Order: sequence, then structure tokens, then C-alpha cells
Amino acid sequence: MSEPFVEVVDEATLQERVAQLGSEISADYEGTPPIVVGVLKGSLPFMTDLVKHLPFGVELDFLSLTRFGHHGRVSLAMDTSLSMDGRDVLIVEDIVDTGLTLTTLRRLMEVKGARDVRTVALLDKATRRIVDVPVEYRGFEVGDEFLLGYGLDWEGRFRNVRSLWGVMDLKTLADEPQLFAQKVFGEGALIRGVAAAR
Ligand code: XMP
Ligand code: MG
Repeated sequence: MSEPFVEVVDEATLQERVAQLGSEISADYEGTPPIVVGVLKGSLPFMTDLVKHLPFGVELDFLSLTRFGHHGRVSLAMDTSLSMDGRDVLIVEDIVDTGLTLTTLRRLMEVKGARDVRTVALLDKATRRIVDVPVEYRGFEVGDEFLLGYGLDWEGRFRNVRSLWGVMDLKTLADEPQLFAQKVFGEGALIRGVAAAR
């Protein structure tokens, strides 16, 4: 049987690309540093690593969205707290897929009065795009397989995995999530709802 889980981008390659994105972004901003807005929860590891490569005094803010269905509406579960009026805003996304989420986010920042809105997305599933939306900085173009780790989750779990994995067999993950846990965390990895592996 083929491997159900495949490491798509290893930790060193992720870190190297994040540093490059930091340099690209740094070179483009002059004068006022942007407000960096992380989209919870998936962007957290990426955002944490990225901002360490920005050599200016950024302010951080966060928001969280709830999506209904696959192509459904997006609603705001938690809003930002800083004033965006007249500010440059850099949205940090884990992954852009259909582009619907990002379209909504950009519009939201504009409504809040942002002077300039740009996006940095670690991953881009470009072939799945439904709405054309600008992504000024992108880490990696990826295929349409289900991705996991470095912020991306399965049932809320595995965002803390240090590298990026592709799930080739979602049924195996659903039936035996401990197999993936053992693969990335080692034997005896704890996982909710499953007894520790011996
Ligand atoms: P849209 O389609 O609006 O969606 O561009 C972006 C959001 O979809 C989620 N997404 C994924 N989450 N593994 C995940 O864990 C994936 O492979 C994946 N592809 C899309 C993600 O929440 C993102 O913000
Ligand atoms: Mg998710």
C-alpha cells in the first residue's frame, strides 16, 4: 500500500522560504511599518516565524473566521482590535484555496480604512481558485491534496507539527490518527481519544 502521509515541505525548507519572504516584504515597505494581521488559527506558526524576519517595529493583530460549507459564506468569529484607518495592512494567511476567504478579508480591511492591503500566504492552491484575488507574497504553490502541519489542522489537531505534510489517504487519518502522530512525534505520541501507542 502507498504511504498515507507524505512530507511535502521539510522544516529547513519552510524556514528558509519564510526568511526569504521576510526579506522580500522588508524591501518593499518604506516609511511606516505595516500592521501584520494573522488569520487564526492556521497562520499562527507561519506568522510567528515570519515576523522575526521583519526588521521594523510592526504591530500585530488577529482575526478569526468561520466558514460555512465548502463554498459557503464566511463570517467573522473574532475581529481585529487596532485601528486600521490610514494604515498599511499585511494579511498573513496559511493557505489560499478558492480565494473566497481572502477576498472577504481584503474587503474587510479596506472597509476599516486601510490605505494599502497586501497578503502574504505561505501556501497557494492556485489550481483551485474560484475568485481572482491578489497574493503579493507567496511561499509555495501546492497541489490540491489535503495538507497538514505548520498551522494546518485535521479536526483542530496537528497545527504544531514542524513541517508540512500531504495526506494521501484521509480515511487512514480519520480511522487511525495515531499513525500520523507517531510518524511526526514519535512512538508513544499522545493523541486525544486514542490510548498512547506502546
Ligand atoms: P479559501 O477556499 O477561501 O480557503 O481560499 C482558504 C482556507 O481553506 C482552508 N484550507 C485548508 N486547510 N488543509 C487545511 O487544513 C488544506 O489542505 C486546506 N486547503 C484549504 C484553510 O482554512 C484556509 O484558510
Ligand atoms: Mg482547518
